[in-house]
Amino acid sequence: MLNTNAEGLLPEIMDIVRLFDCENEDFTHYFYFTNDKYINCIDYRGSIYDFSYECKTEDDIEYKRYARRAAKLAFYKLLSQASGKTFPYGALTGIRPTKLAYMEISQGRDFKPLFDEMQVAPENTCFVGRVISTQGPYYTKAGGQDLFISLPFCPTKCRYCSFVTAPLQNTAQYVDDYISCLEREIASVKPLLTSVRSVYIGGGTPFSITAKQLERVYAAVKRLALPVCEYTVEAGRPDVFDEEKLELSKSFGVNRICVNPQTFSDATLQKMGRRHTSAQTFAAYEMAKRYGFDINVDLIAGLEGEGTEDFARSLDCAIKLSPANITVHTLSLKSGAKLKEETARLHVEGIGRMIALSRAKLTEAGYEPYYMYRQKYQAGGHENCGWSKPGRECVYNIDVMEEISDNVAVGANAISKRVFFEENRIERLASPKNIPTYLQKCDKIISDRLALFGFGEKSG
Ligand SMILES: C[S@@+](CC[C@H](N)C(=O)[O-])C[C@H]1O[C@@H](n2cnc3c(N)ncnc32)[C@H](O)[C@@H]1O
Ligand code: SF4
Repeated sequence: MLNTNAEGLLPEIMDIVRLFDCENEDFTHYFYFTNDKYINCIDYRGSIYDFSYECKTEDDIEYKRYARRAAKLAFYKLLSQASGKTFPYGALTGIRPTKLAYMEISQGRDFKPLFDEMQVAPENTCFVGRVISTQGPYYTKAGGQDLFISLPFCPTKCRYCSFVTAPLQNTAQYVDDYISCLEREIASVKPLLTSVRSVYIGGGTPFSITAKQLERVYAAVKRLALPVCEYTVEAGRPDVFDEEKLELSKSFGVNRICVNPQTFSDATLQKMGRRHTSAQTFAAYEMAKRYGFDINVDLIAGLEGEGTEDFARSLDCAIKLSPANITVHTLSLKSGAKLKEETARLHVEGIGRMIALSRAKLTEAGYEPYYMYRQKYQAGGHENCGWSKPGRECVYNIDVMEEISDNVAVGANAISKRVFFEENRIERLASPKNIPTYLQKCDKIISDRLALFGFGEKSG
């Protein structure tokens, strides 16, 4: 139980309390501000801790930012002292590390002192610097848009995944109507796409629908007559690959594709409910490679029952395939995932070692980290990171993570974003997650999105 006189700071404080697994403990917190000092007093386990953080500002938004920072640091230092634990990104929660670094850089400051202050481990501060440096050629605030198309269908639901999709056996009856709505949505966004940076057909598992259905989606994109740009299909699970869908993708201009093993252990794959084997991964990869796509391979570190050696083996297998991109996710506990129903906390033995190993092996193999993000409840407080061979980085992933372009997103559970650089703000429009609701609301979504981007009025 946490009692505080500063309700506004509660979400940030709770992020730290959760990090240390202390939600069930009692804290009394008192915050006040005097002479440019942000004072946090915390009564914990019968002792009083006082933390003072000094920062001068006349600006109200900055004042709030410093107050949040001071409160997080106070709780982090206290709980770190009490438990003897530290975390890879210290008290840095609730904001993407790269985003915070860019904010510092835009103020003409080096981001490293702030990261040190927030108790980020030095190797992670360096790592963020590496990501920013890889993003250099792509990082621009010149505007532009990315088109995202959501295909929320999967063959079966994986144990760790919170994705809204139900397996196709429960949703197959909606797919044709769903694509009809997509066709209308895609046609409607033509006026918004004045300077497209990328197209991304994401899942779910886009290849889990039939080739005929997929062709309707590709044809709708083709009717937009966009200039040639990065065009990804997150085809996904190796068990849904076939020549017909690959051929079709190639003929419609797709140039990047995801073949996602997650792990190369068949035993783990079965436990995760993925119903494919590593032999199918190799076969899908070889098939996709023949069409000359840039290939991305997703792995997850910390899957249940896997130790450092299992993960190292998966990494070696992925590196041996030599794809353009390898994305290393750290297992995270997500609401709505089967794993979450059965596990209150993730304690993955050796997760730090796995992430360190991924950095060492991928660097040695010639990959550079090009985008990263963190989620709540990730094993050990680590990150997800996309690695790329030089010059083969995925523009879409960078744009989405750094929010440097508009995202025109269609389909169920898609979130369109309009970035207002001058005002330093973003407006969003989320479509319903539930497919029947999405089908019903298609017209409203179309007009609301046009309004978001300055074409017409928002519907009531
Ligand atoms: C939205 S999924 C789509 C990929 C595709 N359907 C597949 O499974 O091959 C994108 C990626 O997120 C990662 N992912 C999903 N749930 C995760 C979790 N709980 N923890 C860590 N990574 C996760 C997986 O690596 C997955 O490939
Ligand atoms: S991991 Fe991929 S295939 Fe599995 S349920 Fe999630 S989106 Fe579907």
